[in-house]
Amino acid sequence: MADRGHWGSKLGFVLAAAGSAVGLGNIWKFPYITGENGGGAFVLIYLLCIVVVGLPVMTAEILLGRATQKSPVGAVKALGGGFWVVFGGLGVLGGFVILSYYSVVAGWAMHYTYLALSGQIVGLGPEGVEPLFGSLFTSNGLNLFWHALFMIVTVAVVWGGVNKGIERWARILMPTLFGLMIILLVNSFTMSGFGEAFDFIFGFHTEALTAAGVLEALGHAFFTLSLGMGAMLTYGSYLDRNDDIVVSAITISILDTVIALTACMVLFPIIFSYGMEPASGPGLVFVSIPIAMSQMHGGTFFAFIFFALLVFAALTSAISLLEVVTSYLIDEKGWLRHKATVFAGVVIALIGIPSALSGGTYLFGDGFAGVFGRNWFDTFDYLASNWILPLGGLGISMFTAWRVDDAIRHREFLDGSRLGVFYKGWLVLLKYVVPVGIVLVFLHAIGVI
Ligand code: PHE
Repeated sequence: MADRGHWGSKLGFVLAAAGSAVGLGNIWKFPYITGENGGGAFVLIYLLCIVVVGLPVMTAEILLGRATQKSPVGAVKALGGGFWVVFGGLGVLGGFVILSYYSVVAGWAMHYTYLALSGQIVGLGPEGVEPLFGSLFTSNGLNLFWHALFMIVTVAVVWGGVNKGIERWARILMPTLFGLMIILLVNSFTMSGFGEAFDFIFGFHTEALTAAGVLEALGHAFFTLSLGMGAMLTYGSYLDRNDDIVVSAITISILDTVIALTACMVLFPIIFSYGMEPASGPGLVFVSIPIAMSQMHGGTFFAFIFFALLVFAALTSAISLLEVVTSYLIDEKGWLRHKATVFAGVVIALIGIPSALSGGTYLFGDGFAGVFGRNWFDTFDYLASNWILPLGGLGISMFTAWRVDDAIRHREFLDGSRLGVFYKGWLVLLKYVVPVGIVLVFLHAIGVI
């Protein structure tokens, strides 16, 4: 217990939790799935998923953590136990799986930051940039190098603990990230493709929306808000009794959404101004954007800012992923923080090696054969976004709504809360709406609908 940390302030918690939420999901994945799903209507559905599914689950996670002052496995044991503990365990598994490949993509962002900084993006021009990036993806050495470096930095932060590591870095990185985002946004305002981009993102183009797109939006709501694997629960466990759960959950969700939409407003004007394809998939950020930036005024500067921002966003999310595993080892196995952090970091880095080796071929197909005919990278991403997080979210919401004692739950919801009146509505969403939504995602994943 002595090793359990605590936030230094409410703001520190909100920044750290927003740091967890704002990540590659917002700046890399959200823009490209918005592009693939045709923009506007998809964005609207996504916003709906955030409010109706994401917000209630986030509230539940923070509540479970704050109530028990424990990480996922311990929290579930303390409030009901039984087979529900499986869902706590799933969270720890999620930490291993997600961080192992997340770190590979973060490594790409580090490599691009280096390329921008050394003037290569602008220096080589569009024709030179394209093969340059292809060669990163197929280089095992570069992928392994950046993956290892990113894991070392993540371990170094978590090693410092909740207050002196996670919170301290969130206080530095998050305001920096907001600042960089504003610089990029101002630049995008001035671009000729701004109007077209605005219409693409906010215009209501229903024709492009499919059932698959709706379910993708729901799945992404979990990923982007860091839900379903106990990250918010763990961060909530370092809160005080009198901290406002609902207001925190709303603030974190708003910050996450604003950053995701801003990322679109930064990227799509660049894409449209240079006549590139909005639906270019995972290569949007790593191929199309650098090609466009290589032709832009001040391209070196903007490319550097953009990729540094991507690295910061990834880092604060990776920290929370590592913290879930670390806090499990501390709470449940009685380990000291330093040992837990290094052990978890090394194991995750090792699990990530196949992703680093096949990550290179991810964008171009033909990877290292993994499961389900996908390469490892793809397999892990698929497992996490389509199975582990929704299943964890289902478990957490059902556990909170159907198993946790109402007296405890109600008291926890009201303690420190300015929005206690929403208790009934929250419970209804958690009991019925959230589970039905998640089950639909599963039925879709197995091809039934
Ligand atoms: N929310 C992070 C992102 O958008 C990813 C993440 C998922 C982090 C689950 C922690 C837990 O990139």
